[in-house]
Amino acid sequence: MQSILQCMDCSRQYPIDQIIYNCDACGGLLDVTHDPDRLRETVSRELFDSRLGSLDAPYNSGVWRYKEMINPDVADDLIVSRPEGNTNLYNTPRLAQWAGVKKLYLKHEGENPTGSFKDRGMTGGVTQARVLGVSRVACASTGNTSASLAAYAAWAGIEGIVFFQNKQIALGKLAQAIAYGATGIQIDADFDRNLELVREVAEALDIYVLNSVNPFRLEGQKSIVIEIIQQLRWQVPDWIVCPGGNLGNSSAFGKALHELYELGLIDRLPRLAIIQAEGANPLYQSYQHGFDALRPVHAETIATAIKIGNPVSYAKAVRALRWTNGVVEQVSDQEIMDAKAMIDRQGIGCEPASACSLMGVQKLVSKGIIKPHETVVGVLTGHVLKDADAVIGYHQNTLDGIQAAYPNRLHQSTADIQSLRTILEPQPA
Ligand code: F0G
Repeated sequence: MQSILQCMDCSRQYPIDQIIYNCDACGGLLDVTHDPDRLRETVSRELFDSRLGSLDAPYNSGVWRYKEMINPDVADDLIVSRPEGNTNLYNTPRLAQWAGVKKLYLKHEGENPTGSFKDRGMTGGVTQARVLGVSRVACASTGNTSASLAAYAAWAGIEGIVFFQNKQIALGKLAQAIAYGATGIQIDADFDRNLELVREVAEALDIYVLNSVNPFRLEGQKSIVIEIIQQLRWQVPDWIVCPGGNLGNSSAFGKALHELYELGLIDRLPRLAIIQAEGANPLYQSYQHGFDALRPVHAETIATAIKIGNPVSYAKAVRALRWTNGVVEQVSDQEIMDAKAMIDRQGIGCEPASACSLMGVQKLVSKGIIKPHETVVGVLTGHVLKDADAVIGYHQNTLDGIQAAYPNRLHQSTADIQSLRTILEPQPA
């Protein structure tokens, strides 16, 4: 059987090549569902291991290495890949100590072609756009999705259209979208409103939507978790910790873990911890109330990537948390920036939203939820250069309401050895 689209709430099915984002019958979110019997016959740890280090497309991609679990029937020559994935999983003993656990790995998704984890979803989404033969694709974005869409649309030779909020988009992301040639539109509205607008415009003008409401995006994003577990030689960590904004990524993590378990590729499930910024915390609030309802919030945080108050994949994220006995935590902007400085000082760096992962681990350890002996993988979602303003502002102590705990002040010197000596010569104690 071919893969199908299926409503997560009422199970109604649609053909895989129908352009549809929510169920016609009940409005529920759609999953791409693969035939489990066929998957069971084809996939194995050995198959995926045999493709490691491949020099040939599509298996040189850390997404398409798992093609059977992503989009099994797509013709290889339609795949739009840079190639993405194959990102490092860093063993970080000093940060483990800082967070209070014995073993902490950081999966650096900022090492993708456009510097964020979005490329894994975008290869899935733009490939499907190619399969469908559409000529225009669009998204609303806090920045990274637009950078990724712009790059993949350009690579595929189709028009990319991106809507951003006119305030608080990190400069690196804006620069990428412009450089890659997308039609960029700055709108006087926040991300949540822009997402509504892009869906209305797409419907009216026949444009394919590539926000994470598009289930082919989430299929690609599943590969983060599959790759983590493969890099751990198929040993399952106790926890996987990631930031939560629009909640596409955490939804994809849940689906990947559920499928890996059903297929017998892993023998137990890790627990998922989703970390939100205090000022953009609708999932955290709902978690506090037993997931009774999503109450949208007006979002404000220095981590502009996750400045989202009405997450579109809320229901799938709740499902992921239920499947994995997961938890939700929140962290303040001050905590985000200090944790980011810790990550940056290891020499690997990340953008502010990504630091939720490390800060969340420390907080969950202090609450006794993550135990010190447990193995934790934190996901870093974006590259340090995405938001250079946040870095400079933190180290110069000019960010509103933030007092840098780990500043690295820039020195000024006149052009003479005497002045340089006062900076560089060890001072007597
Ligand atoms: N981290 C970064 C760096 C992001 O760019 C995003 C989302 C997230 C975390 C949260 O992931 O939305 O799947 O829960 N950025 C989107 C964008 C919304 O438009 O680039 P999520």
